[in-house]
Parts: sequence; C-alpha cells; structure tokens
Amino acid sequence: MTLKTPAALLLSTLLAAPVLAATCEADLEANDAMQFNKPSLAVPASCKKFTVKLKHVGKLPKTAMGHNWVLAKAADAQGVAADGIGAGPDKAYVKAGDTRVIAHTKVIGGGESDAVTFDVAKLKAGENYAWFCSFPGHAGIMKGTLAVTK
Ligand code: CU
Repeated sequence: MTLKTPAALLLSTLLAAPVLAATCEADLEANDAMQFNKPSLAVPASCKKFTVKLKHVGKLPKTAMGHNWVLAKAADAQGVAADGIGAGPDKAYVKAGDTRVIAHTKVIGGGESDAVTFDVAKLKAGENYAWFCSFPGHAGIMKGTLAVTK
C-alpha cells in the first residue's frame, strides 16, 4: 500500500476534476446553412447529468433560421418532429407535454445560445437516441445520434 502525500492528492484532484467535468457536457453549434457541427454525441454512463450547450453561430433571426436541440429515442424522433411543427414557435416547436421528448432547448437565432441539462438516468445503455432541430423543415437535415458510453 502506498501512502500519497497531501500535495500529490491535491495535484491528482486538480488534474482529474476538469477532465471529469468536461465529459458530462457537449458544445454544439448550428449555423445559417441549416447545419449542426457534430453528427453524434456520447454520454458517459458515469455522468449523473449531461448538459448540451447550443450556440447559433449564424446571423439570421430565429423567425427565419431558428434552431433548437430536441432529444428523443430514435424510433420516436419523426413523430416528435412532426408534432413539433404543429406546436408552433411559441412552444419552441415541441408539443406541450410530449413524454417522448427527453430534453430540449428553446429556439434561438443568430448569435444566441441556450443550454439544457438532463438526468442521464433517463437514458438506457444500448438504446439508440436521436436529436434534431424541430424548426419547420430542419429535422431532415439537422440531426444526429446519441448513445450512452461506458
Ligand atoms: Cu434549425
């Protein structure tokens, strides 16, 4: 058994903390060309909560090129997107009380940001999850996958 000195313990804590914090969140960008900058996100099973930070790096207003981030099971994504269009801009294009929606941000325009944090306990390892922008006409292109990783 080796005894660590307080200095060594402090150092290892300082080195480990930022790495652990970084894995439980993801930065995602959306632009005026109707694109996200990542095709997939990985959520470590060790995270209690996971945060997605969405940034609109374009210039267009949210009425013309609004973007949000909506997470659902892959099998539910199409239905959630279709119902979201019907919900309209006042509801961030997400149907009120839609239990298929695991997490979502608000709709943002160019230069704006939003973030959403959700419990990783809501996700199951081995399940296929999908995320997309539910602004009308965007979900077909603006989409990605999410999985829980060990
Ligand atoms: Cu969009």
